[in-house]
Amino acid sequence: MSLTDVEKRRGDGLEDTDFECFRAELSKEDFKQFSDYIYDQFGIKMPEVKRVMLQGRLLKRIRDLKMHSYTEYKEYFFSREGQQNELYNFLSVVTTNKTDFFRESVHFDFLQNEALPEMEREGKKNVKIWSAACSSGEEPYTISIVMNEYIEHHPGMTFTVLGTDISANVLEKAARGVYAEKLINMIPLEMKRKYFLRSKDRENPTVRVVPALQRTLSLKYLNFMDQNYEVDNDFDVIFCRNVLIYFDRETQERVINKLCSKLRSGGYLFIGHSESMANMDVPLENIQPTIFKRK
Ligand SMILES: C[S@@+](CC[C@H](N)C(=O)[O-])C[C@H]1O[C@@H](n2cnc3c(N)ncnc32)[C@H](O)[C@@H]1O
Repeated sequence: MSLTDVEKRRGDGLEDTDFECFRAELSKEDFKQFSDYIYDQFGIKMPEVKRVMLQGRLLKRIRDLKMHSYTEYKEYFFSREGQQNELYNFLSVVTTNKTDFFRESVHFDFLQNEALPEMEREGKKNVKIWSAACSSGEEPYTISIVMNEYIEHHPGMTFTVLGTDISANVLEKAARGVYAEKLINMIPLEMKRKYFLRSKDRENPTVRVVPALQRTLSLKYLNFMDQNYEVDNDFDVIFCRNVLIYFDRETQERVINKLCSKLRSGGYLFIGHSESMANMDVPLENIQPTIFKRK
């Protein structure tokens, strides 16, 4: 078959020369403007080695907006209109939102076996937990499940969970509480039945968090770079996991001190397993790797 036959079959009357490949590249200068902005506004460090990654992540936005180059996108993004309309998409592209139900389960075991019995002995009635950088909700819903299970066997206690994040996109997902069914594979069957409803769609199986669990969670936008964190000052437990890793050490120390100002004395702070607070000037006692108690 000749090339002309293929062209005839395609039947759109267009020649290949009517198209051009998208060859644009995120230049060093444009990358620097984005990376400075990302660091200043969100605290996320973006060294030059991340240029190709950012280029890849922005490509879909550029295509969706039918733009022709990264510079065109940059000019739009930094314009007044772009700052109003594009921040939502930009943030969901720039942030890494990977999370899981029962991720790093050592913290949930500690909560159930150490922290909650201790609070009960101290006569605590309402336990307040903050999932800071909660992503799409798997972390705060896991906290709610663990709390609910504990309280069923220890009546008289109640709890609230606050989830905050910088990305409105993930906060919307958390509020919806709908997940691909495979994401709850690791949860024991009894718990799945108790806390999730299955969709009838068997081709694209999803689950929805039961309304009673959803009601225990409040969600709010919070940027760790903000001067003031508009949340309560007396949390019993704060989860701040797998987000400090994106910040430099100075920013980490500043964020942790602010979180400590929201944690009651004797309360617990959990960080992610690849994160460390070694040699930082923070009012915390190290209980176990990644588990800290407010002095
Ligand atoms: C990798 S997820 C971690 C989710 C969850 N804590 C966990 O461990 O599974 C990191 C989250 O941090 C959020 N984040 C990044 N920078 C932030 C900032 N400056 N303030 C608040 N949240 C931020 C991202 O939007 C993302 O949802």
